[in-house]
Amino acid sequence: MKKFLILFVAVTMVSVAAMAVIADDKGPAEVKLPASMGEITFNHAAHQGRVADCATCHHKGVGVACRSCHGVKAEAPKAKKAFHKRCKGCHKKQNGPTKCKQCHTGPKG
Ligand code: HEC
Ligand code: HEC
Ligand code: HEC
Ligand code: HEC
Repeated sequence: MKKFLILFVAVTMVSVAAMAVIADDKGPAEVKLPASMGEITFNHAAHQGRVADCATCHHKGVGVACRSCHGVKAEAPKAKKAFHKRCKGCHKKQNGPTKCKQCHTGPKG
């Protein structure tokens, strides 16, 4: 009997977690962006707390990866240009990091 109860609780917990993910996909907490200057560790979760509107960054649809267009599709500006404009543009206004090595902290690649 106890085993069934544990199983029931476990199944309920998994279903609730799955529903939360479908209803509200916030994406990964951290994103690694490879670059020849050095990999960027982007704290997605922290930025979601700093930036009220997801569309400030996700201009072509919330949750769609920038790199599915930028650097891939001819009509979209190259990834370097798009990221530098969006990321550094806000940092200049809001006192975020603007020096190369403050973002490009990881291994070159
Ligand atoms: C400061 C900019 C910024 C803000 C604000 C932001 N994101 Fe993102 N998000 C990104 C970047 C950069 C990536 C990684 C894109 C890539 O890998 O090309 C990403 C990735 C994602 C992904 C994964 C996409 C995939 O298929 O890999 C999801 C889902 C997502 N964001 C949802 C959200 C939601 C929901 C919000 C608002 C609550 C939000 N984001 C706010 C910049 C942002
Ligand atoms: C579905 C494809 C697509 C996705 C996904 C996408 N973009 Fe774009 N982006 C474009 C296209 C096309 C343009 C050029 C035409 C325009 O401005 O609409 C553009 C233009 C831009 C520009 C220059 C114009 C401006 O708004 O100042 C920036 C910066 C930019 N994108 C950043 C991003 C970032 C950061 C992400 C991910 C969080 C992202 N884009 C996701 C297609 C995309
Ligand atoms: C709309 C504003 C805004 C946009 C867009 C934005 N950032 Fe930021 N970011 C900030 C602010 C504000 C801080 C500084 C927070 C502090 O020091 O308290 C920051 C801090 C950072 C830091 C330092 C570590 C950390 O998270 O605290 C990194 C690295 C960073 N941003 C990378 C990026 C990258 C890469 C992008 C583009 C994909 C981006 N940011 C887009 C506002 C923004
Ligand atoms: C706010 C964070 C930030 C700052 C500051 C920054 N970058 Fe970047 N940089 C990025 C992001 C994000 C990308 C896109 C990486 C990707 O497409 O995976 C990028 C891409 C690049 C690329 C293209 C990478 C490749 O492999 O082709 C080069 C080169 C580059 N940056 C050089 C610089 C230099 C030089 C500086 C200083 C003058 C600088 N960056 C400052 C975030 C930053």
